[in-house]
Amino acid sequence: MADTKSQGLVFPPANSKKRAEHDDMDNNDYVAAKKSMLLSSAAAAAWEDPAAALASARHEFGEHGGVNMSIEASATFTVMEPETLRKMFSGELGADRDFFIYSRHFNPTVLNLSRQMAALEGTEAAYCTSSGMSAISSVLLQLVSSGEHIVAARTVYGGTHALMSHFFPRACNITTTFVDISDLDMVRNAIEVGKTKVLYFEGMSNPTLTVANIPELSRIGHEKGVTVVVDNTFSPMVLSPVKLGADVVVHSISKFISGGADIIAGVVCGPASLVNSMMDLHQGSLMILGPTMNPKVAFELAERIPHLGLRMKEHCHRAMVYARRMKKMGLKVIYPGLDDHPQHELLKSMGNKDYGYGGLLCLDMGTEERANRLMNLLQNCTQFGFMAVSLGYYETLMSCSGSSTSSEMNDEEKALAGISPGLVRMSIGYIGTLEQRWSQFEKAISRMQDSGLLNNE
Ligand SMILES: Cc1ncc(COP(=O)(O)O)c(C=O)c1O
Repeated sequence: MADTKSQGLVFPPANSKKRAEHDDMDNNDYVAAKKSMLLSSAAAAAWEDPAAALASARHEFGEHGGVNMSIEASATFTVMEPETLRKMFSGELGADRDFFIYSRHFNPTVLNLSRQMAALEGTEAAYCTSSGMSAISSVLLQLVSSGEHIVAARTVYGGTHALMSHFFPRACNITTTFVDISDLDMVRNAIEVGKTKVLYFEGMSNPTLTVANIPELSRIGHEKGVTVVVDNTFSPMVLSPVKLGADVVVHSISKFISGGADIIAGVVCGPASLVNSMMDLHQGSLMILGPTMNPKVAFELAERIPHLGLRMKEHCHRAMVYARRMKKMGLKVIYPGLDDHPQHELLKSMGNKDYGYGGLLCLDMGTEERANRLMNLLQNCTQFGFMAVSLGYYETLMSCSGSSTSSEMNDEEKALAGISPGLVRMSIGYIGTLEQRWSQFEKAISRMQDSGLLNNE
């Protein structure tokens, strides 16, 4: 077969390059590709801001010089010489030198998005998956074995809670102790040296918006020899957990990072050794369990990363303005940007400059009946937002967490996690003008007042 394979161009753009005559040729192009495949430790060390890091990440051009990368929509990849296959399977030649075996393993388009994610989180490497849950389950299965233990925050997404409290003990003999992560002694005491492998929490918790003290929790985790894994789904750009001391970041890309509520996807960001171990042909959870991201999806997502920062700023700005106004109205509002939030100062000290305090707020309406009445008015009478789970969409999304995204937890677990039956979680959108949407909110509240449903006891 002739040399029909061309590589994506490497910044700065050069003429289209063809793969060399010999697959294992160690020329400068391959060295350059290897160096830029992952953020080098030096680049990771110089990391200061997620937006700056994204702009400095390698830019892939299309096969014909297009400003966007071509989609490598291939399940499998050819080689020039039979010996190359053996070398690829033995690990001698890999994606770091532009050798791809099969797209359940590495795929160039998925790798491109993964590089963006590594830059965003300031990690050495990252790899994308088909959902947030597959990122979480794969990384935990890589780090924890049968008979071992996880210490996790009590307040985590309902699916993560179910994975740790029901699925892992039944299927893998992995147990979890849930703790209040704001009680550092409780965290310390729950870690069993040698047996506990992971300390797991959300940077900003779903749905209570509790902010984790990432530097302190990471210090405790490292003292006890565990890997610190942080779910940063609620706070991309706002928090950079690895820069604050954690080891690994996971995301449900389905939320803010996608922004379109049209894609389910996830990512694991962390050391290159971890990402490579997850891809190991014999022992790698991503390679063997196979929650692969489709390259067409990776391409779409890669096009949305450049405006993630702008979107986050507007989500956060509107959430801040609405939270202040809701509080003034006498509503019980939970928002980390308000002075009365227990971790307001902590978030101020940890957050990246200019991104604000997150795009979600919660209203505690006291009872599920009142919460449902409010959501009904907000959607069906005043068009403030949609009753739907999920977050990070351009429209406002609202759900009563206790009966939806946290319904996997029993009443006691919900009470311990601080999830009251009337808690309405709102992911604040940015479509329309701020005042237009606020007047829709005000109208719904006055309808509640008129019907006597809003006695601020
Ligand atoms: C904090 C958090 N982590 C993980 C997930 C799971 O992500 P996915 O739905 O992409 O599997 C969710 C989903 O709601 C979430 O809110």
